[in-house]
Amino acid sequence: MTLDLALLAATANLAPSVHNTQPTRWALGDGALWLMADLARQLPVGDASGRDLRVSLGAALEGTILALGEQGLSARTVDLPGDGVSARLELGEGGPRDLLIEQMPQRCTWRRGFAACPASQTQALAEWALVQSDITLIGNPAEIEVVSTLNERTSLAFYRQAPYRRELVTWMRLAPTDAGYGADGLSAEAMGMSRFEAFGAGLVLGDPGFSILDTFGLVVPLISEKRRTASAAAVLLFHRPEGENPINTGRTLYRRQLELSALGFQVWPMSVLADDPESAAELSARYRLPASDRLISAWRVGPVPVSAKSRRERLPAEALITT
Ligand SMILES: Cc1cc2nc3c(=O)[nH]c(=O)nc-3n(C[C@H](O)[C@H](O)[C@H](O)COP(=O)(O)O)c2cc1C
Repeated sequence: MTLDLALLAATANLAPSVHNTQPTRWALGDGALWLMADLARQLPVGDASGRDLRVSLGAALEGTILALGEQGLSARTVDLPGDGVSARLELGEGGPRDLLIEQMPQRCTWRRGFAACPASQTQALAEWALVQSDITLIGNPAEIEVVSTLNERTSLAFYRQAPYRRELVTWMRLAPTDAGYGADGLSAEAMGMSRFEAFGAGLVLGDPGFSILDTFGLVVPLISEKRRTASAAAVLLFHRPEGENPINTGRTLYRRQLELSALGFQVWPMSVLADDPESAAELSARYRLPASDRLISAWRVGPVPVSAKSRRERLPAEALITT
């Protein structure tokens, strides 16, 4: 059995991760393939419980299982050890090649305005959502506006917490001269900002800029996502059983996003709506989510404009492999 571990890790690491922290590392040992979270990449403020780290690890795990198929291999067993931050895979030859692999280079988080969505595509989205027990589709523009308003309010409340804002800024790569630019974190391009807007964002979110602008009511117009949110074809509430291992949540999260990509949709999450207990409760009640489920995230979805440039900011493969 031949395995190109660097290729496997680089392909699997195309998976989404919170703030593009890319916390997963790959290793061979004890006759198995291991995925382990680099705990130094956990967000101490925004993800104190480590849930997002585990969800990100789970997405990378799903990416790994898909990418194994490219090398004529498959995962015969997948074990999740009790430490909650690793996965152990026993590999075998052969196995089916999942067509979702083809979406891995296409899928991206899209934070600009979405393109108009043809009726046939909207219909395909509705049909897909209907058979997913963990997706609740909100397609009515008036209801999208309700979610958008809640997103604006909740995001502002999060930004007003200086430790949260400062942590976010440490993962922003606003200029090509910033350390980590093009490798991890959130670049200006990934956040849908021009150079000028990126410069402004640095001032708005930095200290003391934020407090001064907030005093004069100037933060909201500068950080508002309302217009771009309104361009979404739909908002999808992604909810999974309460108590599910977050690694398994991450596996499904990635599959859903790849399935959406296959339908021509990209995703822009509003995770604050799930992270804030009051917002999550409001959405769960309004859209009658199953009582046994937990809201994982709310996704704006839509087609990206044809002229959109694809972009990949990832660590080099050698940084993803450990011994
Ligand atoms: C658990 C989790 C939560 C996320 N929350 C948000 C979010 O609230 N807003 C956002 O714009 N992106 C969010 N993302 C997307 C990541 O920022 C994105 O996956 C990462 O920057 C890599 O970029 P890519 O998805 O284009 O490959 C989230 C991703 C994960 C895995």
